[in-house]
Amino acid sequence: MDRQRRSGEGGWRPKKKAAKKAPSKGWDPVAAWYDQLVGKGGSDYHQHVVLPATLEMLGDISGLRGLDLCCGQGVLVPELMKAGAREVLGVDASPRLIESAQRRFERDRAVRFVVADACAEPSPWADGHFDFAACLMAVHDVPDLPAMARNAAAALKPGGEMVVIFMHPCFRIPRQTHWGWDEGRRLQYRRVDRYGVDLEIPIKTHPGKGESSETLFYHRPLAEVLNAFGQAGLALFGCEELYSHRRSQAGGIRSKGEHRAAREFPMFLGLKLVRASD
Ligand SMILES: C[S@@+](CC[C@H](N)C(=O)[O-])C[C@H]1O[C@@H](n2cnc3c(N)ncnc32)[C@H](O)[C@@H]1O
Repeated sequence: MDRQRRSGEGGWRPKKKAAKKAPSKGWDPVAAWYDQLVGKGGSDYHQHVVLPATLEMLGDISGLRGLDLCCGQGVLVPELMKAGAREVLGVDASPRLIESAQRRFERDRAVRFVVADACAEPSPWADGHFDFAACLMAVHDVPDLPAMARNAAAALKPGGEMVVIFMHPCFRIPRQTHWGWDEGRRLQYRRVDRYGVDLEIPIKTHPGKGESSETLFYHRPLAEVLNAFGQAGLALFGCEELYSHRRSQAGGIRSKGEHRAAREFPMFLGLKLVRASD
């Protein structure tokens, strides 16, 4: 019975072998697309929300050594250097994104990049050398968050701080959260179809010819994310819910409701963590 299933016509035919899911190829195949999207100064969201919030949450970093975990093509690095960081190491699993980052900073001896899996343990770069760390838009990209959190903790000095910003897990789950309009109450609401389970959601991108066009988004409920950091020895001491800067230009009767929803449903979650003493 388990190896066969009934056909629509009432006969029997062998069950088709379930299609094997191809393992995620990571970000390398979409590196050119992502590099172009983010550019030198960051995407729209980087520029208006994510980068300013990161710098504010990090506070004074002048003279400090920093780690940019899952740094991509290095969008945060110039901001850290402008803010006075003494040195920055960028770590990312995509050799092509690291290549782009390296090209931009080849003359800057205070900036280094390495290709590495942030979840692989032990990691040579996780050596207790850093005063601060940041991880932007990548909590939902790594398959093993507890391992990444342990590496981040091991990379920091005791008392070192880390800022993590990622898509808000309660309101922004690809394919599972949507805007809706309640005509009777004249309000825009956020619909959440699934939340309290781990989900692996393939994300289609729009890269150039010949490139694969999927990355995986790992949704985890909020408690799971906080516990991954907490259990790694990174204590939470600050949290920011960050809102999109974009506002509907449509006007009309819905515009008040849309503007209110944009102000009240956060897009990103920012955590400020501190490495507990041994
Ligand atoms: C959405 S991008 C964000 C990149 C960058 N922080 C930014 O804000 O532009 C996610 C990044 O996570 C990286 N990444 C995914 N899994 C990783 C892993 N296991 N180890 C290191 N980097 C990883 C990807 O290569 C990609 O650069």
